[in-house]
Amino acid sequence: MLEIKVLTLFPDMVRAVLETSILGRAQAQGQVRYEVTDIRDFSVDKHRTVDDTPYGGGAGMIMMASCIVEAVEAVRTSDASPVLLTSPQGDRLDERLTLELLAEAESEGEIILVCGHYKGIDERAQDILGMREISIGDYVLSGGELPALVIVDAMVRRVAGVLHDAASADCDSFTAERDGGLDCPWYTKPPVYRELAIPEVLLTGHHAKIEQWRQEQARARTRARRPDLLGEPDAKIAPER
Ligand code: ADE
Repeated sequence: MLEIKVLTLFPDMVRAVLETSILGRAQAQGQVRYEVTDIRDFSVDKHRTVDDTPYGGGAGMIMMASCIVEAVEAVRTSDASPVLLTSPQGDRLDERLTLELLAEAESEGEIILVCGHYKGIDERAQDILGMREISIGDYVLSGGELPALVIVDAMVRRVAGVLHDAASADCDSFTAERDGGLDCPWYTKPPVYRELAIPEVLLTGHHAKIEQWRQEQARARTRARRPDLLGEPDAKIAPER
C-alpha cells in the first residue's frame, strides 16, 4: 500500500481534504494510507516557533531548517523515499510529472510532501534533504497545503483501483488516448434541456462513430483552447499505465 506522508503547519486543513471524496475512499479501500504530521512538533522551543526573520534583512519569515529536516527524518522509512517540497520555483506539475512521481512513490512504497510556507525555507534544509521542488503553476499561493493536496489528488486518482471506472481516467485531458490534448464534451440525461439537444451521434448506438466524433471534438477543442499542447505532443502525453 502506498504511504503518503504530508508535513504541514495546518494538519487539520490537510486531514479534512484527505478524508473527503475520492481521496478518502482510496484510504478506506486500503489503496493508500495518509499520515499527516505537524511540523510544529519538531520545534525546539516552548513557543513552538518554526520560523524567523531572514539573515541579511528583508520582509517575510523563513522556516527554520531544523524543523523540516527533523520532521522528514522522523517520518521517512528510507533515504531513498522521494521527498517533495511545494514551491513556486519547482518543476511545474502536469499529468506526465504526476505519473512520474507516482511511479517513484510506488516503487519506494512511500512519498513525503513538505508544505512550504511564509517566504520560504532555510536553504540548508534543501542542502541536507535534496527535496524535489514542485510547483502547481505560475502564481503564488499563501501556503503549500493547497499545492500538496493538488499533487496528492492528481496522484491518488491514478493509483490502480481508486477510480471505479479506470477507463474514464484513460481518456481524460492530457492522456495518450487524447494525444496529450484536451478531453471532448460530455452529456447526460435529459436528451433536451432548455431546447438544447445533445449531438445526435450520441444516440445512434454506433460506438465507432461515437468514438470518432469524440476524438474530433477533443482535437478541435485542443486546437482552439490550448494550441501549445499540439506543438510538441510527445513531451505532453502522460504515458500509459
Ligand atoms: N507555494 C506557493 N505558491 C506555490 C505554487 N504555485 N506551487 C507550489 N507551491 C507553492
